[in-house]
Amino acid sequence: MTRWRGLWRTKSVDSLIHESETRGHKLARVLGPLDVTMIGIGAVIGAGIFAMVGEAAVGASSGHPAGPALIVSFILTAVACGFTALCYAELAAMVPISGSAYTYSYATMGELTAWIIGWDLILEYAIGNVAVAISWSGYFCSLLKSAAGIQVPVWLSLDYRTFVQRGLDLAAVPHLFGLPIVFNLPAVAIVAALTVILVVGVKESARFNSAMVLFKLAILAVFVAAGFCYFRKENWVPFAPGGWKGIQVGAATVFFAYIGFDAVSTVAEETKDPKRDMPIGIIGSLAACTVIYILVTVALTGMIPFSELRQGIAEPLVAGLAYNNAPSWLVGLIALGAVVANTAVLLVFQMGQPRIFFAMSRDGLLPSYFAKVHPRFKTPHVTTIWTGVAVGVLSAFCNLDEMANLCNIGTLFAFVLVCVGVLILRAREPRRLRPFRLPGGPVLPLLGVAFCLYLMLGLGPTNWIRFGAWLAVGLVIYALYGSKKSVLRQAHLPHPG
Ligand code: ALA
Repeated sequence: MTRWRGLWRTKSVDSLIHESETRGHKLARVLGPLDVTMIGIGAVIGAGIFAMVGEAAVGASSGHPAGPALIVSFILTAVACGFTALCYAELAAMVPISGSAYTYSYATMGELTAWIIGWDLILEYAIGNVAVAISWSGYFCSLLKSAAGIQVPVWLSLDYRTFVQRGLDLAAVPHLFGLPIVFNLPAVAIVAALTVILVVGVKESARFNSAMVLFKLAILAVFVAAGFCYFRKENWVPFAPGGWKGIQVGAATVFFAYIGFDAVSTVAEETKDPKRDMPIGIIGSLAACTVIYILVTVALTGMIPFSELRQGIAEPLVAGLAYNNAPSWLVGLIALGAVVANTAVLLVFQMGQPRIFFAMSRDGLLPSYFAKVHPRFKTPHVTTIWTGVAVGVLSAFCNLDEMANLCNIGTLFAFVLVCVGVLILRAREPRRLRPFRLPGGPVLPLLGVAFCLYLMLGLGPTNWIRFGAWLAVGLVIYALYGSKKSVLRQAHLPHPG
């Protein structure tokens, strides 16, 4: 009985705040609302807008194209994310410590849910990064071609399945022991390079981040300007070729483009005034990205008939320009922007994943081996290297859409739990000071739950099966390991004798 009750045991919010303050590494409070917004935009704009828009518009794997109505999809997803963003803001202002949905859920819904979220966040961070690395590779190859005339062989820049789906000739690629060699070399290379950088340790300054964000925004502004020059209204007929279903599936697909605004909550401990800066940063970055995404989608769907995007599905922005015979410097510039944007996203997520493993290991839910800190570099090198190996291997052999959609379903589920967590914490600790409180009682968190579930339904049975299998594996690991070794559990066990 005690054992079952232990599943719902929570860390108290006070102990979390106390832990963060006495850890001996109290972080300096240097970030203002603009820095925080910039961090949000930096973590958000990447493969979603540079790659997944193609898949969402065409609906190649789902059979439900959004077409130009992808604009509506972006608005639908922004609304869903908006409700969740507000929930994150309430939690982040109230529990202003470095963490993530994992930490919040430990404080609100207990250990089992915290484990589920932590396990689920692997889909957001690590699997999401597999998709970003694949998109990085696609644009990197476009950049090499337009800037230096170098053509990376297709067998070294695609996964096996995509290679076959495109009807390319397997007989023409090199073979090893009778097996064709087809893998995504640039994706592996960028993950390896970033892993080395992260093990040695980067102190990415807010100013450097802001410079990268401004660069991404400038490149997207150039694309939008080009789009308005090449705009043809015939391309908007039919506007919604897949009807409402196409819009729903499109919304679930481009959800990927919004993932990352929640990363803002991880710097809560470093903001000058978390009560003010958290809501502004989270909601501000979400609003800014929504406007940018709508403009880019208007430009893209106006410059090329959506069905033509099938050809350049991993690099749709380049495909749109190529369709209009845009000058190669322009194509190169957009490809460079995508490479920079995707690198920034990769860095944030590749840094976030090991820290979540680290926190789980410190709590005893994973072996203490994962909480090792490098003696010289002071980084969580073990988890960083394992994350790098896993992301690198998967990005060599996996397909962009499959990975992005698995990331989508996992993250949407984490968002559902965060919205529920707000309600639980209000019921459990109604008197706790809430510097930022969502208006309207339970309405907005409940709407967040409903919208996220609705988007999850747009992701089709295959993704649900993969997600279910992932959760099942996680539960087995928890039953065999975390449930027995949890630090919190150990602390509450009766002393022998
Ligand atoms: N939102 C991030 C991206 O689009 C994951 O790359």
